[in-house]
Amino acid sequence: MLTKNLKKSETKTAGDLLKEGKLVAFPTETVYGLGARADSETAIKRLFDVKRRPIFNPLIVHVASIEMAKNIAVFDDQSNQLLRAFWPGPITFVLPLKRNSGISKLVTAGLSTVAIRFPSSIIAQSILLAANTPIAAPSANLSGKISPTSAAHVFDSLNGKIDAILDGGVSQFGLESTIIVTNPIRILRPGSITKEKLESIIGVNLPNKDEVSTISAPGQLKSHYAPVSNVRLNVDSPNSHEILLGFGDVHNATLNLSPSADLSEAASNLFRMLSEIDLIAIKNGIQTIGISPIPRKGIGDAINDRIKRAAADRS
Ligand code: TXA
Ligand code: MG
Repeated sequence: MLTKNLKKSETKTAGDLLKEGKLVAFPTETVYGLGARADSETAIKRLFDVKRRPIFNPLIVHVASIEMAKNIAVFDDQSNQLLRAFWPGPITFVLPLKRNSGISKLVTAGLSTVAIRFPSSIIAQSILLAANTPIAAPSANLSGKISPTSAAHVFDSLNGKIDAILDGGVSQFGLESTIIVTNPIRILRPGSITKEKLESIIGVNLPNKDEVSTISAPGQLKSHYAPVSNVRLNVDSPNSHEILLGFGDVHNATLNLSPSADLSEAASNLFRMLSEIDLIAIKNGIQTIGISPIPRKGIGDAINDRIKRAAADRS
């Protein structure tokens, strides 16, 4: 939930800074984003530098309206149908990039497609409206690290490197947006708009992400969301070198994503608790974080996607 109401003047200032080509971290309903003008080569270059993000990993363009989105990307019938159901909200469409869109080639990593999102967060919307130009915004963390769900978390990794951080409280969903590609529709990154929700709108079954091996978001590197500690999944009882990030009714957990086994609650706690338990582990000289099994249904799919990357081999 957004716990803090920012004044109109603060979102206006943030929008103005973005318009001037500055880098501003701001809240969205998913995670905090680090914004820069999508048409400014200089601002985008600095964004990649600050995040230490590989340049082959394209960014999501954030817009303040559907009209703005349609000036940038070509929407087909199915994406229009999904857009009507879920926008503004936590879903990103990867679509053909329009000619003369003005979007910097760095944003799309030279691809002929563009990822585009109209966030539902009122704070994000008012910043985007004030900027009045498309804003590229990756999650506001160093590349490969845990995505931030609070301003404090952004501050910890980017303070001093960017021009402003807007505090809008804790992110509502806590996981990044669902990314889909159309023709045919495939999920590139699972999120709060689940496979089931997408299927209920388009009326056909989608393959599971594991069956979609040929296409993937270029930035979906195997290792991501990496805490300092090692991560082991599906742990029922931690061994003596581990601490447990629990889920559901478990008794030996140091932190619990959701004692009542509520997947939405677990999603919104995931990144914060992963950071917190990492610090606890480091302080206590413990090398591994164990994570309880999490069911793969609904938003559990997206949670499993993220923790699998957190546990992935980093070599
Ligand atoms: O919820 C979100 O989507 C957040 C907030 C800030 O809006 N943003 C976010 O951005 O998660 P980022 O940069 O952390 O993730 C963007 C993902 C990357 O995996 C990237 O590879 C993929 O989007 N992507 C961007 N453009 C693409 C394209 N043209 N084709 C396929 N994947 C693309
Ligand atoms: Mg990210």
